[in-house]
Amino acid sequence: MGPRKVPAAISTGIVDLAYTGHGPSDGVPIVLLHGFPLNGNMWRHQVATLKQAGCYVVVPDLRGHGRSPTPDEPADMESQALDVFALTRKLGMNRFVLGGLSMGGYVALQCYAKAPEHILGLVLADTRAEPDSEEARKGRRATAERVRSEGVGIMGDAMGAKLLSPRTLEQNPTLLEEVRTMIRSTSASGLIRALEGLASRPDQRGLLPRIRVPTLVLVGSDDTLTPPPASRSMAEAIPGARLALIEEAGHLSPLEKPDQFNRLLLGWLRETGILKPIN
Ligand code: MLT
Repeated sequence: MGPRKVPAAISTGIVDLAYTGHGPSDGVPIVLLHGFPLNGNMWRHQVATLKQAGCYVVVPDLRGHGRSPTPDEPADMESQALDVFALTRKLGMNRFVLGGLSMGGYVALQCYAKAPEHILGLVLADTRAEPDSEEARKGRRATAERVRSEGVGIMGDAMGAKLLSPRTLEQNPTLLEEVRTMIRSTSASGLIRALEGLASRPDQRGLLPRIRVPTLVLVGSDDTLTPPPASRSMAEAIPGARLALIEEAGHLSPLEKPDQFNRLLLGWLRETGILKPIN
């Protein structure tokens, strides 16, 4: 049966997202949404592990990021959710596990709010349900202004190190360079439109008690952008959600501590019965 009840596109329309697909197409379907201002490549460690476990993993580049186009409008969460459903519909994925890191988590929550019947389970990594404060919105506008006048280079310099834990910066300095390169490969217009969308995102706290699918909330112990207390209150509000802390990781826990992240993810997929337990 094909997907149902996905509303039609609004405003300038749905973006045909660039994506990669991995693993057997009849495996457990999993879609992973990256954070701002990165791209699908940030999930590469999870892709390798999930594929080996027999899952079918789809990793899009969200609008304005990676190889996906940037429409001339703010990348609000509603439009991004429509993009994701257009892609999954195109791929014939009716029900799937949806995971997202930070901005990807905001989009994942929006997808659940829109069409929960398509979601088999949620993985919310280093993200939060609260909207931006007025001060955060002001900061986003100032950042967009700087990107406009100085270019994307300033984002890599300003943001790169904040995404990683002190331990990662010490033990794996090449990861910082890799993250900066990923940020710099995002276009100025992609960054600006995403900043506008992030600033206007809705408060999803009211949605949390209504979530009825298995949910895993993961957060790096040293995440300063979406810190552990935000994840804790999110997990407490979602019925039956599991909270896991990734020690010595910052905001990019799947890249910083892939083994720990993957062990928790696979364990949860098996415990919930989404993935068959190993005999
Ligand atoms: C992200 O990693 O997606 C961003 O930190 C999200 C945000 O700025 O709210």
